[in-house]
Amino acid sequence: MATSIKLNDMVTLFRKELELCGVKEGEKVAVLSEMGQTEDYTAASMLAARALGAQVFNVNLLPTTGLSAEEKTGNVGRTALAGNPTAIEALKRADLVIDLMFLLFSKEQLEIQAAGTRILLIAEPFEAVVRRFPSEELRGRDEAGAARLAKGKQLRFTNPAGTDVTYKLGQYPVLTEYGFTDTPGRWDHWPGGFLATQSNDTGVHGRVVMDRGDILFPFKQYVQEPIEFTVRDGQIVDIKGGLDAALVREHMASFRDPRAYAVSHIGWGLNHLARWDYLATGLPTIGMDGRAFYGNVLFSTGPNTELGGTNDTACHLDLPMKGCTLHLDDELIVKDGEVVPQDMRAPGL
Ligand SMILES: [Fe+2]
Repeated sequence: MATSIKLNDMVTLFRKELELCGVKEGEKVAVLSEMGQTEDYTAASMLAARALGAQVFNVNLLPTTGLSAEEKTGNVGRTALAGNPTAIEALKRADLVIDLMFLLFSKEQLEIQAAGTRILLIAEPFEAVVRRFPSEELRGRDEAGAARLAKGKQLRFTNPAGTDVTYKLGQYPVLTEYGFTDTPGRWDHWPGGFLATQSNDTGVHGRVVMDRGDILFPFKQYVQEPIEFTVRDGQIVDIKGGLDAALVREHMASFRDPRAYAVSHIGWGLNHLARWDYLATGLPTIGMDGRAFYGNVLFSTGPNTELGGTNDTACHLDLPMKGCTLHLDDELIVKDGEVVPQDMRAPGL
């Protein structure tokens, strides 16, 4: 009985989400999943899409990596879709793919998007998708930031721990992530809430010092001792500090891939419903609370294929930092962890 109540709750919420995604009668909605995983979300997605009059089908694949969606956030781009053109073609013919498998940073995702199919990733547990349910209001603030970022030539951020790093911008597009997608070919992630772009090739210089309390993904840990990254020409050339720095060095080295040391996307969080403390609860999450946290700066390393680059290394670190100050050209965007421009500020803050 409890299971059926939970499924009903899920279907109700998924239906609201699919309404935000513009799903309507006659649209083709594909649910992409791996055997034995995410069965509740698969059922909720299919029932919700059918309730809106969509044609629904499920592409269910045998797992190849053995990794859960959570584990795939740090080991990206290799999916069970690779080498399965029949499944890829079926997904390209859908209007919307609900990705429960984690296609992010894969060639297959880009191919499906290029066919005009929009993709919605859902990888967080039910508690998180309820608590951070998206809105048009968040979309408006995200797009206000994206408009600035698209025109920006230089991004610089600092923090009291000693960060001072500069990104040259203009070569790559901006990724918005506000939690739903109603635009052909566009990807999003429920529940998200941040902006990202990528520096020009070789265009990052300076020092990033993660402070105590900042977050390490995929470790899902708070930094205990500052970690200092030296960045030259878009590459991390040195990582100094205590135990945390040693673990980051070992983790990156384990991929045996020099491209792991590239600086990846950069941006800031805008989701006022995200909780910095959430990781400390120990409850299941892939960590979007930290990544989308309102007023954070999200520094990251590794691949850049998602924004049109050629680095497809599997080693990806997302490194949300709190209390930073960020300028885009001459405009102050984040001051000591507070979002400054009025059209990006969350209501009531
Ligand atoms: Fe990332």
